[in-house]
Amino acid sequence: MTEWWKKGTVYQIYPRSFMDANGDGVGDIRGIIQKLDYLEDLGIDIVWLSPVYDSPNDDNGYDIRDYQKIMAEFGTMEDFDEMLEQMHARGMKLMMDLVVNHTSDEHGWFSSKPEYYIWRGKPNNWKSFFSGSAWEFDEQRQQYYLHLFSKKQPDLNWENPDLRESVYGMMRWWLDKGVDGFRMDVINLISKDPELPDAPDGDGGPYYMNGPKIHDYLQEMNREVLAEYDIVTVGEMPGASVADAVNYTDPERRELNMIFTFEHMGLDQTGGEKWDLKPLKLTDLKHNMEHWQHALHKKGWNSLYWNNHDQPRIVSRFGDDGKYRIESAKMLAACLHFMQGTPYIYQGEEIGMTNVRFDSIDEYRDIETLNMYDEKRSGGVPHDTIMRSIYVKGRDNARTPMQWNGDANGGFTTGTPWLGVNPNYKDINTLNKDDGNSIFQFYRKLIRMRKEMEIITHGNFTLLHRDDDSVFAYTREYEDEKLTVYCNFSDREQQFDLPDGELLIGNYNSLESNELLVLRPYETAVFNKKS
Ligand code: NOJ
Repeated sequence: MTEWWKKGTVYQIYPRSFMDANGDGVGDIRGIIQKLDYLEDLGIDIVWLSPVYDSPNDDNGYDIRDYQKIMAEFGTMEDFDEMLEQMHARGMKLMMDLVVNHTSDEHGWFSSKPEYYIWRGKPNNWKSFFSGSAWEFDEQRQQYYLHLFSKKQPDLNWENPDLRESVYGMMRWWLDKGVDGFRMDVINLISKDPELPDAPDGDGGPYYMNGPKIHDYLQEMNREVLAEYDIVTVGEMPGASVADAVNYTDPERRELNMIFTFEHMGLDQTGGEKWDLKPLKLTDLKHNMEHWQHALHKKGWNSLYWNNHDQPRIVSRFGDDGKYRIESAKMLAACLHFMQGTPYIYQGEEIGMTNVRFDSIDEYRDIETLNMYDEKRSGGVPHDTIMRSIYVKGRDNARTPMQWNGDANGGFTTGTPWLGVNPNYKDINTLNKDDGNSIFQFYRKLIRMRKEMEIITHGNFTLLHRDDDSVFAYTREYEDEKLTVYCNFSDREQQFDLPDGELLIGNYNSLESNELLVLRPYETAVFNKKS
């Protein structure tokens, strides 16, 4: 096993919003096939495909009705096979989304194998991630079932060995088809405290995040399935600490290759809820990422991400989506891509797509957003206050259709898109991708450098200027080489001593001065020194 995923860059496709080939307003697999040359041009090694399985779409495919069937809106299994073949022909790998904490309530198991789910005569006080109680009463059984997400997403009972074997069989079926790995949806939630006790404040997290048997299950899955294939695995893990992350990804423990941490995504909220906004303090982000870089070095492996289908757009969040959109998009890219780990690019990030503001709540589609809106409105929170949070944090920010060109609907569809296109598509789209100064070309260079420079994969990490609240700077060192990365997260000029070495990459055409390092708004400058 070559650990090829340590030098690769992943691109996430959210199929519903990527490219619609048949004009029904919903992205599809044939649309993805049309755009594989685009991904090859970018230099992508691995595609993570959000769920394409048959689903009633209560949560856009994260509620699976049949794990071995393709969602009709997305195409057929023949289309899927062709896509996989075409990816492989371009040297790309395909990582599927594995959603096995829960299924849809329309999955056959829910009626034929009730023992695969979690039932109780009385609900406890846990809250669902999507508002309201995490329990729903089932008339037929006269019992409640647990659903940490929507009530159409009942949680699976991993205590049951037959359920586990059914999941492993399904995984083998996909791997035997030739897929190259899995991104595992909320996989650290599969082991619940069997007592299912009430939680002091209704947050059951401590009883199901990184639960009592989680490592047994992952080690069993590894033995039964993963170890047999040369694949990549990444676990999505809300509530995992660095210590947990080491346990999940230390190769000797034989669990997963890497995880998605959430800590850096929680720094711009006040308390337990992502909707409670607070401005990011750059020092919090720096210290958090430093902690992860150090803790996993030579012990485990991390994923590097700013964006995915659940997170707002990074230029709008930690950058500037107005005057300095292009500069800040590149600066954020450099800041992340020179760290240790496997970088993930979410569709549209490579062209600097931004958050969206729809006027009416009726234009939103995301179940998390809509349930939260209803709950808060009934609790008396004013409409405008809720909309402010949605504009900053709502998941539909990431899900507006990909902006390919300046034609109607950004070239995404000839029909009516399932979710509105961001009105800025005439200015922000892929048409200028070949321009040497485009954000796309900047990402392309970063992806290539990672393949060519061992230091990016292996070097150790040192944070510079710890307490500076505008500039994120660090070094990477490996053998006789040193990289120094400077990133200005502000629109004000910042001055430092010039680091040693040659300018490797930057987002302004040349340095402002040869005497000092003068960083202009959102400037990044990366220096390379070989002794
Ligand atoms: C995490 C996924 O990324 C998100 O989109 C989904 O709603 C939940 N898990 C439930 O599957």
